[in-house]
Amino acid sequence: MTGPVGVGIIGAGVISDTYLQNLTSFPDVTVVHVGDLNVERARAQAEKYGVPRAGTAADVLADPEVEVVVNLTIPAVHVEVSAAAIAAGKHVWTEKPLGLDRNGTAQLLRDADAAGLRIGSAPDTVLGPGFQTAKRAIAEGVIGTPLFAQTVFQTQGPDLWHPSPQFLFARGAGPLLDMGPYYLTGLVSLFGAVEKVSAFGSRVRTERMIHTGPDAGTTFPVEVPTTVQLLTSFSSGVQGQSLLSFDSALERAGVFEVHGTEGSLVLPDPNMFTGRIAVVRPLGALRDGMSFEQEWIDIPQQGAETGRGLGLLDMVRAIAEDRPHVASGALGHHVLDVMLSAEESIASGETVTVSSTVDEVPAVPVDFDPFAATL
Ligand SMILES: NC(=O)c1ccc[n+]([C@@H]2O[C@H](COP(=O)([O-])OP(=O)(O)OC[C@H]3O[C@@H](n4cnc5c(N)ncnc54)[C@H](O)[C@@H]3O)[C@@H](O)[C@H]2O)c1
Repeated sequence: MTGPVGVGIIGAGVISDTYLQNLTSFPDVTVVHVGDLNVERARAQAEKYGVPRAGTAADVLADPEVEVVVNLTIPAVHVEVSAAAIAAGKHVWTEKPLGLDRNGTAQLLRDADAAGLRIGSAPDTVLGPGFQTAKRAIAEGVIGTPLFAQTVFQTQGPDLWHPSPQFLFARGAGPLLDMGPYYLTGLVSLFGAVEKVSAFGSRVRTERMIHTGPDAGTTFPVEVPTTVQLLTSFSSGVQGQSLLSFDSALERAGVFEVHGTEGSLVLPDPNMFTGRIAVVRPLGALRDGMSFEQEWIDIPQQGAETGRGLGLLDMVRAIAEDRPHVASGALGHHVLDVMLSAEESIASGETVTVSSTVDEVPAVPVDFDPFAATL
């Protein structure tokens, strides 16, 4: 790849604004086409961000200037849209989850490999300066040997703010498959593959209501558990405990803590690119009259601030540099496998052994500059 890489976006819904804003600010990529089932929506987004062409998904795939397709459709059609892009000879960056079933995503990865094309999968928040600074600190031994991790995401649910939230409560989403990718991709990026999963889940209500937009007041069915608790065991020996809920009046999201032999580390919200990183060390002793107050030491974040699109940018540079990219399809496939294993554990009441694995997730160099022209 030489010169800015041509990008075509398929799916011009809620998240396309963030992508269009960021991708039109990176010199290494040029957005040349926006497509959607709803052509008017594609046209409006293209116009808003100065993208020259808009149309259907097929129009994007037929555009010879599109080298990479960014798949921002809903989870139920992620594999179908990504597979069509691979068949058309385009690299793919897709929103999460990579797909809804292991066979579909495994086939997609094989087809991409056979065609010499790359697949990258969200979330790319793990490439952000916040998470990468924390990852480097752990690798440098700031908390000694990591022992266990805790993550918490509990909210009232996205039906509170999304104008078309049905897909977020359908197969392929719920808090596990919609928000789980952020937390699990973070954990796998730190501790390697997950070997075993045990989970409990409950579907508290069978129907929810849309609260905003033209369809406010409409009810829709809930197909999946809306509160899930999972225990994960990593190949490195680390244990994880994660709560994912769309049923909590108390909003507490983005809790991501890692505890080690020599301290505990608070990491940024894995749904964000930046955030607080701080470490607390064990007390040497607690004698009469001493307080239990521990001192938090903040770790300054290193690296340029960006947002969604960073994973795609890393992927196109990785193609040019012939190196693996960070948010790979294999990582997306493993995280999906872990989440489906959790669903199976919820259904069976048994601990499930995860069948896939993934190579160590590469780090992002400190001097990675999204705003440099490198291609
Ligand atoms: N909304 C968010 O805050 C958010 C955040 C991070 C990630 N995501 C992910 O981004 C993806 C899209 O979410 P969204 O909130 O933008 O959804 P959305 O429903 O607002 O938009 C999806 C768009 O895809 C189009 N579409 C669906 N099937 C298509 C097909 N076969 N061909 C062409 N277009 C098709 C729809 O017409 C719609 O415009 C999901 O995977 C979601 O998990 C969303």
